[in-house]
Amino acid sequence: METKLIIVGGTKGGPGKSTVAQQVAAGLQLKRGQKVHITDIDIQQTTTSWCEERRNNKNLDLIAFSYIENDIVKHLQSLNGRYEYIVVDAGGFDSEIQREAMLIADIVLLPLRPKRRDLKSLRDLDTVLESVKSSNPEVQIRAVLNQCPSLPSQVSRILSSKDIIESFGIKCAPTNIYTRNVYDDAEEAGRSIFEMKGKDRDKKAESEIEELVDYLMSLEVQ
Ligand SMILES: Nc1ncnc2c1ncn2[C@@H]1O[C@H](COP(=O)(O)OP(=O)(O)O)[C@@H](O)[C@H]1O
Ligand SMILES: [Mg+2]
Repeated sequence: METKLIIVGGTKGGPGKSTVAQQVAAGLQLKRGQKVHITDIDIQQTTTSWCEERRNNKNLDLIAFSYIENDIVKHLQSLNGRYEYIVVDAGGFDSEIQREAMLIADIVLLPLRPKRRDLKSLRDLDTVLESVKSSNPEVQIRAVLNQCPSLPSQVSRILSSKDIIESFGIKCAPTNIYTRNVYDDAEEAGRSIFEMKGKDRDKKAESEIEELVDYLMSLEVQ
């Protein structure tokens, strides 16, 4: 089994790394039938708690997971061949462990809000990404805009954010993730957005995550 390694990272706290990592992992496993492992390397362990909640709920599909503080390369290599995808939720700062994981990643996914503070973090990220690219030239680095405002009057904000990101030589995923309560509600309940029922379901959220998942899956054939 060929294993693809996706690092969901960046240097900042709050743009939605854990949310994106969780929902992408769930989309890959529940919607695309991929065998997925989640590795949390953030000391806050947001995603570890989410995975533990899932494990304690018999109605939810188990997604394999681990929390790792060091020896990340050894850990990831030990999982190699056992999963189709490993999704890593990285911490909100430029840590050694995040760099090490990026050095062997197939895809680095950077959630960013269309906000100045997030876009400014690209300046610090730039040097990190340059060194990652020089040692791992095959890596596919993509930004994904998260927590986008859905008001039509804010569309230009999203477009100009994309321009700024691309001015750093970073491609953006074509799918934007919008601010939707379901992301918060699902995380709170230890669920993915695909496991919300009745009026709690949000089909637009489901479509955007599925689109992002398909895009990430398509990257590997290039
Ligand atoms: N698209 C979104 N819509 C609504 N809330 C979101 C969205 N993405 C993230 N959030 C919320 O924002 C907060 C921070 O997200 P989180 O994934 O923990 O960020 P990070 O891991 O980058 O620090 C959480 O409360 C999360 O539920
Ligand atoms: Mg997090």
